[in-house]
Amino acid sequence: MSEQPALYRVPQHVGIIMDGNGRWAQQRGLPRSAGHRAGTENLRRVIEAAVEFAVPILTLYAFSTENWKRPRQEVDALMSLMSAALRDELGKLHANGVRIRHIGAEQGVPRLLLTGIRHAETLTQHNQRLQLNVAFNYGGRADIVQAVRTLVERGISPAQIDEQAIAEVLSTAGLPDVDLIIRTAGEMRLSNFLIWEAAYAEYYSTVVYWPDFDREELLKALLAYQARERRYGGLNQ
Ligand code: IPE
Ligand code: IPE
Ligand code: MG
Repeated sequence: MSEQPALYRVPQHVGIIMDGNGRWAQQRGLPRSAGHRAGTENLRRVIEAAVEFAVPILTLYAFSTENWKRPRQEVDALMSLMSAALRDELGKLHANGVRIRHIGAEQGVPRLLLTGIRHAETLTQHNQRLQLNVAFNYGGRADIVQAVRTLVERGISPAQIDEQAIAEVLSTAGLPDVDLIIRTAGEMRLSNFLIWEAAYAEYYSTVVYWPDFDREELLKALLAYQARERRYGGLNQ
């Protein structure tokens, strides 16, 4: 193995916007679905690398509330790939101590897939090596809307509303804010990912397409993160 720079400040919570499957396929003259397949296959590699680098919490953006706008055929392919990935990878993830949690809305997600997700969550609930959050049918704004609804339904008074009260009813409740957001395929936007939780996240963008984003690329992102100075609005001495 080649000499590797030391990792000494690993982010607690890493989020990845897994983008560029379509362009990866296009570059090879393949249909977009082939890119999604390659992207799904890449999950294992990156999850294993996250375990190796001792990242405690990883949140992967797999399908946004806006992705429903895509052609029916592509949406169906993405749903099938998600189901297949759960079916094929669950045993190994569980054996490796990965705890799975879905973040996002249930509405619109095929029943069978939801059942698979719930099963994965229950099976892995006591695992502690890596907390893996799958943002599927997730939108930051939609999550804030459902959070506000939940609070109102509980009869919260205006004086009781504070940042903690809101954070406790978001789908990321109980997780620390995201420290590092990685986006593959070069875009410089959040696309509605963790908009509340990323208030002070460090952002890292790489031109590498998601299916090509491997262990070395994750390491580069983590090394870039550890060189950042986080001030949270204050002054560092
Ligand atoms: C990311 O790849 C996968 C999802 C958004 C589900 P894209 O499908 O967005 O790939 P590009 O951006 O078209 O290359
Ligand atoms: C963001 O990628 C969503 C996911 C990676 C799941 P998109 O490809 O949907 O984002 P836009 O359309 O470029 O903003
Ligand atoms: Mg895209």
